[in-house]
Amino acid sequence: MSLVKRIFHTFAKAFAEQMIRPGEKLPSVRLCAHMFQISPSTIVAAFELLKEEGMIESQRGSGFYMSENFIPRAQSKLLRQNSLPMKENMELSIDDSWLLANVYQADNSDYHSVGCGWLPADWYPQQEINKALRDTSKSTQIANYGYGTPYGNENLRIYLAHTLAERSINVRHDNILLTAGASRALDLISSAFLNIGDTVLVDEPGYCNFLSSMLGKHIKLIGVKWTPQGPDTEHMKKILEKENIKFYFTNPWLHNPTGASISLNGAHRLLTLAEKYQLTVVEDDVSGDLLNPGKVTLSALAGLERVIHIGSFSKSISPGLRAGYIVAAPNTLNRLMQYKMMTGLTSSSIIEQVVLNVLQQTSYKKHLKTVRSRLAQAHRDIRKFFEEINWEVFCEPDEGYYVYGRPKEGTTDSRSLAEQARSAGLLFAPGYLFHPDHKNSPWIRFNVAFCQEKKEYLYPFLKKIGKTS
Ligand SMILES: Cc1ncc(COP(=O)(O)O)c(C=O)c1O
Repeated sequence: MSLVKRIFHTFAKAFAEQMIRPGEKLPSVRLCAHMFQISPSTIVAAFELLKEEGMIESQRGSGFYMSENFIPRAQSKLLRQNSLPMKENMELSIDDSWLLANVYQADNSDYHSVGCGWLPADWYPQQEINKALRDTSKSTQIANYGYGTPYGNENLRIYLAHTLAERSINVRHDNILLTAGASRALDLISSAFLNIGDTVLVDEPGYCNFLSSMLGKHIKLIGVKWTPQGPDTEHMKKILEKENIKFYFTNPWLHNPTGASISLNGAHRLLTLAEKYQLTVVEDDVSGDLLNPGKVTLSALAGLERVIHIGSFSKSISPGLRAGYIVAAPNTLNRLMQYKMMTGLTSSSIIEQVVLNVLQQTSYKKHLKTVRSRLAQAHRDIRKFFEEINWEVFCEPDEGYYVYGRPKEGTTDSRSLAEQARSAGLLFAPGYLFHPDHKNSPWIRFNVAFCQEKKEYLYPFLKKIGKTS
């Protein structure tokens, strides 16, 4: 395919996936030439093609814009070319969407959320964040930041390259691309490397927002059974023998929703399979900073040709900062940078400076230690309570936010249990949300920090349920 056609298709795909929306301005010819590392005349030729197809319009002196009227035509054409086997699964019932929206709404004062994916306010490094904000605001450079650089704040990337060595990831800062959180990292990787109708492997159960976003992009998902030691590699092997699959998206450390981390042996088996079947593993390590020191990563074990690594500051510093990163081989990273720029330009270098200012404070390191031990204590507390009420746990992590639990007897459908909880003012994260097809599950995801904070409401409810079931 010629270079001009390649650029044409890259934009057409971004339009069809609504990564660029009708009326939105495209990056300038000069910026695109820089992103794609090609001459401006090639970009101009590709833009001319897009114009001929009615996908974009030029406005004198202002640049190129996606045509207001194009999206229906582009989508229907692209969608017709591909079968959409999972489309039906995307349609969530009112109840499902209600739960998804509410489990993720931090300021929902109507309910006590004990299944959410963040920490109680005073578990975050508030003082360090305040100081970092003050220091950043005093910085004389702030006005000079402009859009920042395509790969993200260089000082933060240099700092990260240094600290990632503690997880045995030995990279230079130019192997790192900063993103608005792990969500944006997952979005960039799936958009840059997958097409409508492609099939990928995911953890089952796995992170619910990611599963919905992949289904929304018309990517077919095959769940690999997740065990307390990591993915069931026998199951995975059977799938790989039959299907031609290029990507496995996994959250191997402090897994959402089960809390389990992959064992070293499991990691070895997974990476051997990945090598044999030429599978790229996307290692979503969103909670990595909450692990006790000394844990390796899949990317350290197998190298960046096989594994794309994702990190985030949402779970340790604050989800409100929206900062994360991708570590990948140079070619992969370059492509991801192009997508990042094409579909939203740079990430916020000011926020990234705030993150750096937090990371550099000695008191932040102490804070992280304290949070890890508070979480460990919260894990022990809830497990003790589960034993008292005859519940079992999927595994016994002492780190991270989550424990996956279920009654040993009685209720086998977490959906109805979540509904009873809702009537009692408690918001649960029932297991079915974590399956691509929302099949029944007896498990419930609990956030141990909130279980501790909301003990007075949660414990009596679970005791009562135990008696009546
Ligand atoms: C497994 C997993 N991946 C990604 C994300 C998104 O993280 P971020 O806030 O960094 O976008 C989450 C958030 O809960 C998660 O649990």
